[in-house]
Amino acid sequence: MSDLIKEIQKRKTFGIISHPDAGKTTLTEKLLLFGGAIQEAGAVKSNKIKKGATSDFMEIERQRGISVATSVLAFEYRDHKINILDTPGHKDFAEDTYRTLTAVDSVIVVIDVAKGVEEQTEKLVQVCRMRNIPMLVFINKLDREGKDAFDLLDEVEQKLGLTVCPLSLPIGMGSDFQGIYNIWEDNIQLFLEEKKQKVGDSIKFDDINDTSIDDVIGEKAAKTLREELDLIQSVYPEFNREDYMKGDLQPVFFGSALNNFGVRELLDAFIDIAPMPQPKESDTRLVKPEESTFTGFVFKIHANMDPKHRDRLAFVKIVSGTFKRNENYLLVREGKKMKFSSPNAFFADKKEVVEESFPGDIVGLHDTGSFRIGDTLTGGEKLSFKGIPSFSPEHFRYINNNDPLKAKQLAKGIDQLMDEGVAQLFTLEMNGRKIIGTVGALQYEVIQYRLEHEYGAKCTYEPLSMHKACWVEADEKSEEFKEFARLKQRFLARDKYNQLVFLADSSFTIHMTQEKFPNVKLHFISEFR
Ligand code: G4P
Repeated sequence: MSDLIKEIQKRKTFGIISHPDAGKTTLTEKLLLFGGAIQEAGAVKSNKIKKGATSDFMEIERQRGISVATSVLAFEYRDHKINILDTPGHKDFAEDTYRTLTAVDSVIVVIDVAKGVEEQTEKLVQVCRMRNIPMLVFINKLDREGKDAFDLLDEVEQKLGLTVCPLSLPIGMGSDFQGIYNIWEDNIQLFLEEKKQKVGDSIKFDDINDTSIDDVIGEKAAKTLREELDLIQSVYPEFNREDYMKGDLQPVFFGSALNNFGVRELLDAFIDIAPMPQPKESDTRLVKPEESTFTGFVFKIHANMDPKHRDRLAFVKIVSGTFKRNENYLLVREGKKMKFSSPNAFFADKKEVVEESFPGDIVGLHDTGSFRIGDTLTGGEKLSFKGIPSFSPEHFRYINNNDPLKAKQLAKGIDQLMDEGVAQLFTLEMNGRKIIGTVGALQYEVIQYRLEHEYGAKCTYEPLSMHKACWVEADEKSEEFKEFARLKQRFLARDKYNQLVFLADSSFTIHMTQEKFPNVKLHFISEFR
C-alpha cells in the first residue's frame, strides 16, 4: 500500500453542528481530551461569542482572533488523525458554517435532550442532507430531565427528516439516570450516582437476559431496558454502514458531554464507521483522494488580526495527492502559479509550518488578496471544484461612502471582505448603487468596524426592505425575459461574480413573478447549474 493511501485511510475530517448551547463546545473539548490534544477543559470554550455580546466590538475582534486558532482542531486517536472543523454556532455566522460543511466528510449533530430539535439544527441538517453527508446524532445532557428517548427519536426523524438507528440507549434520565446500554459494543456503562463526574466501570454483558443486569441496575430498570431494546429491534432499521455513508441512515448515541459520559463510545463508533476523505466532484471530473497530484479548494478566508498587514489566511481542504511546501500550484480561476513558503497545519492549540499535508487535512495559506472562497488549487490541471454556494441573505442595506476622499479604500475594503465571505454585495443594474446582504444583523457592525480599522474607510447604511435575493436563470434573449427585465428593472442587480439577481420585497412578489414568468427561474442559492 502506498504511503499516500495509508495517510488517507488514517484521516477523518468532520464538523459538529448544533443549536447554540446544546453542547458542541463541551463535546469538542471532551473529544480533544480523549485524544490527549489538550490537558484541561476550557481550552475551546473561549471560542464562543459571549451571550448578549452581539454589539461589543472587542468581542467580535476577540472572536476573530480565537477562531483562527480553533478553525481546525486536529488530534490523534487510535492511530487515526482526526480533524474537527469548527462551525460557528452564532446564527449570524450561519453562512460560514454552510461553507465549512463543504469541507467535511461527515458530521456529528448534537441535540439537547430537554430542548429537542431546535431551529438552527434543522437548517444545518438540511444543508447536510442536500449534500448526502453522513451524520451521527449525539443526544446530550442525559444527566438532566429531558424528553423521552423514543419521543426524541421520533422528533429527530420528523423534524430533521432523518432515518435513525439508535446505537445506544439511556437507562433512566435526569435524577434516575443510571447509565447507557451501548448497542454498538453490547455493554452497559454505569453513571455513578454519588460521583456524577466520574464514569463508572463499564460492564460487559453477552446476553441481555443475564440476570446480573437486574442486580446492577435494579429489576424494574432492567425490565424496561429489555422492553426498549426489543422495541428498537422491531421498529428501527439495523445499522448498515453503506446506508450511513450514503446519508440514508443516521446512528444515534446518548450521553452527557459535560460528565464525559457516552463520549468515548461515540468517538470509538465514529472511528469505526465515519468515512475517510472522499472523492469530490469538479466541473470536469470526479477527483479521488488517492490521485498522486495535489488538488484542493478554499472554503474559508480569515483576515489577519493585525490591521497594518493586510495578509489573510486561506483555509484549503486537500482533496487529492500530497500538498508540499514551496511547490508550484495553479490557482485555476486566475491561471496563476503560486507557491507557499509557510503553509500552516493546525493542531488543537497551535498552528505550525508544515512540509507536506494529505487529503482530508486543512492547510492555512498566507494570501495577500489572491484568493476567493471556493477557489480551486491544483498541480496544473484546469478543473474547479463544485459546491460552495451562496445562500440568499436575509438582511439588506444600501451602503454609502462617508468620506469621498476614501472611495478607493472603501471599494477595496468591501471587495476583500466579500472575498472573505463576510457578506454579499449586490450592485443595482439601474444606477450602480451598492447593497450589502447579510445572514445576520451583526455582520453590518463587523463590516463598518473593519472598513474603518483595516482600510481607513467610513461607511453608513440606509435601510432597504427586501425579502430575498433570487438568482435568475433564464434565456436572456427571450421575449419573456426581456419583459421581466423591463418590469423589474428597479430590482435587478449583479452579484460579485456578475450573476443576475432579482431582489424581491416579499414572498408574495416571488410567487407572482414566478407565475407570470414561468421560464424565468428564481433560485435562493447562487449555485444552481
Ligand atoms: P454550544 O457550544 O453548543 O453552544 O454549548 P456548550 O458546550 O457551551 O454548552 C452549553 C451549556 O450546556 C454550558 O453551560 C455547558 O456546561 C452545558 N452542558 C454541556 N453538556 C452538558 C451536559 O451533558 N449536561 C449538562 N447538565 N450540561 C451540559 P453554561 O452554563 O452555559 O456554560 P458554562 O458556565 O458551564 O461554561
